[in-house]
Amino acid sequence: MNKPIADFRSDNSGRVAPELIAALATANAGTALGYGGDPWTAELQNRFAELFETPVRVFPVPTGTAANALSLAAVCPSFGAVYCSTDAHINTSEGNAVGFFSGGVRMAAIPGSHGKIDAQMLERAIASAGVGLANKAQPAAVNIVQSTDLGAVYSLDEVAATSQVAHAHGLKVHMDGARIANAVARLGCTPAQATWKSGVDILSFGITKNGGLLADAIVVFTPDVATDIGFHLRRAGAVWSKMRFASAQILAYVEDGLWLRLAGHANDAAARIATRIRPLAGVSLSAPVEANVLFVEMAPHALTALQEEGILFQRRGPGLGRFVCRWDTSAAEQDALVAAITRASAMGEHPLPRNVELHGEHRA
Ligand SMILES: Cc1ncc(COP(=O)(O)O)c(C=O)c1O
Repeated sequence: MNKPIADFRSDNSGRVAPELIAALATANAGTALGYGGDPWTAELQNRFAELFETPVRVFPVPTGTAANALSLAAVCPSFGAVYCSTDAHINTSEGNAVGFFSGGVRMAAIPGSHGKIDAQMLERAIASAGVGLANKAQPAAVNIVQSTDLGAVYSLDEVAATSQVAHAHGLKVHMDGARIANAVARLGCTPAQATWKSGVDILSFGITKNGGLLADAIVVFTPDVATDIGFHLRRAGAVWSKMRFASAQILAYVEDGLWLRLAGHANDAAARIATRIRPLAGVSLSAPVEANVLFVEMAPHALTALQEEGILFQRRGPGLGRFVCRWDTSAAEQDALVAAITRASAMGEHPLPRNVELHGEHRA
């Protein structure tokens, strides 16, 4: 392989936004109480209440997996089931952290398009789950990934429809917002509309992928959930002792809409690439490009040619590549990818094996 010329492996591969590094340096003065007893963490509660236009509780956590697993552990009994998309990160890529931290919750995966849950299929799945039967896992929560693992964005109506089904059956709604900034930037809605106004009870608020440093957060909209969540977090070792640094960077992240500008850049990069490669023969996009991720189908030898040219991406199957744009994806990287795909597409069309999984790939 040539020297890497462009990196589309993941939004985890990017840098930390300078504003957040500056916030860490500013917070690095004097002393402050640990475990969230500091002024930054207190301010974070107020700031997020403003951002979401409702009282919330915010818990900074180390990873998106911790945010998901501990959110769900807090809202599900150990004999519960969480309904999610077959493509949901909790189902494909978190080593059953939900099951572990909840003491036994199982995932009930239901199909839908482009990583979404279909509300009607959800209704049918819950109706046939065996509610009240002691030999069945009891429906407890629904997990919505926004934006989805396949790069699509739920409309507000879709989130609301899914939430309505969940609430009608007494289930809580958890949103995996590892890429919620990309979704809110795309939808042009308020954070409140994207979440609790559409029925979300508890949110994994992603930061790391969009310019953060080692911190995501759990945002709780339903007060009765928040009473237990602190115990789950502490028991899991997911409470920062020097919490001020997590909170200071999260404050900077949402200051003056920075989080949406960063995500907007990544979304725009993906949209520009999609527009330029869509007309090419032998190239197709297997999911709508609505956030910062592109799934590109090409002949296997053409994808290999991209890799040999030094384009870094995830191979999700012989003829399927995942390309992720970051807040700091450069114009040169976008041009390099489009040029390489244009050259590779001219190598001739081959039948496209669709969505064949490669084993051993780590999904980020
Ligand atoms: C949709 C989604 N949710 C959750 C996560 C988990 O985040 P982390 O890797 O920080 O545990 C990821 C990470 O790739 C993700 O893509």
